Amino acid sequence: MKKVLVLGAGGFVGVHLSKAINDHPDYNLVAVDITADKLTENAPNVAMLTYDIQREKEEYVRLISESDIIINLIAIANPSIYVSDPLQTFQLDFLDNLFVVEQCVKLGKRLIQFSTSEVYGKSASVYNPDQEYEFDEESSDLILGPINKHRWIYSCSKQLLERVIHAYGIQQNLNYTIIRPFNYIGPMIDFLPTHEEGLPRVFSMFMDALLYDKPMYMVDGGSQKRSYTDIRDATRAHMIILETEDERTHQQIINVGQRQNEISIQELAARMNFIWEQQYGGTAATLKSISGDEFYGKGYEDSDRRIPNATKMEKLGWQVEYGVDGILQHAMDYYHNKFSES
Ligand code: UGA
Repeated sequence: MKKVLVLGAGGFVGVHLSKAINDHPDYNLVAVDITADKLTENAPNVAMLTYDIQREKEEYVRLISESDIIINLIAIANPSIYVSDPLQTFQLDFLDNLFVVEQCVKLGKRLIQFSTSEVYGKSASVYNPDQEYEFDEESSDLILGPINKHRWIYSCSKQLLERVIHAYGIQQNLNYTIIRPFNYIGPMIDFLPTHEEGLPRVFSMFMDALLYDKPMYMVDGGSQKRSYTDIRDATRAHMIILETEDERTHQQIINVGQRQNEISIQELAARMNFIWEQQYGGTAATLKSISGDEFYGKGYEDSDRRIPNATKMEKLGWQVEYGVDGILQHAMDYYHNKFSES
């Protein structure tokens, strides 16, 4: 049995992946994070260790040395925090992650590192609006805005981490796979702002609007697009990558996403409103326009489109099962059942 260490196991992607690894007969899971709440809800039989990477590095060194494969999900992955606390974003997403990478190099461990579709930055359609660009792991340029648009510090931190990992591959033969997720949605994605202070990602903002009778905000008009991926499809992709130890994953960067699930934020709002009215008999939320600076604060800039090229995942035998309505239905059911009073 291989011992798999999941760092950041208590976050959205981590709870779903940890459950799948725990249910797999070939793997022995060790799950770590600063909090265990979500994991306890999703997989009560998974024992979770709670250590803080910023204060208890020696525990991380010990756990990495005792494991065969390290899956690193430690990150802030929420745009409002990139804008409100760019230094903490850099600290956790680059410096603390680099520490994990360097331990894997030193101890000769296989590393599965979660990055982000956000490393691609703006779509190349900023140069040529008439053309559709798929983001390709091997050939796409990574296009970021100016320094005063500090939203990009997250993308830049993740990009630099990828470049360091790549260099460790070349110079010290680090065995790594980098995963670039494209906008996953599912149960437990974020907190809801009515329950906790802050601005979660768009699905949770809209879910909160439906549950608690608030408006849905269209940031900068809402015509920007994202390609959404169901957490169930994503978790299958992550398990395929974990199980595959050959040239298709060794020292590879892999997109996890599908272009068929691309929709605009306006369409996302419309579909969630429709499901809310049809399935739960609720009242649709009203839409309100707001600028990025007003919504997130100064320093926000957006990525207009993110269309993945999924060839590498397809060559691993992966196809998505869920379209946008299936994704939304599943995630909305979770929040409706948990929080709706009716
Ligand atoms: C974020 C992260 O930065 C990525 O790293 C992460 O991988 C990605 O989410 C993801 O979920 O995979 P982003 O897609 O910009 O990126 O995050 P959201 O907060 O979900 O925003 C999506 C779009 O909706 C943005 O254009 C945003 O301006 C807009 N938005 C957000 C609204 O129009 N209304 C809202 O209430 C919230």
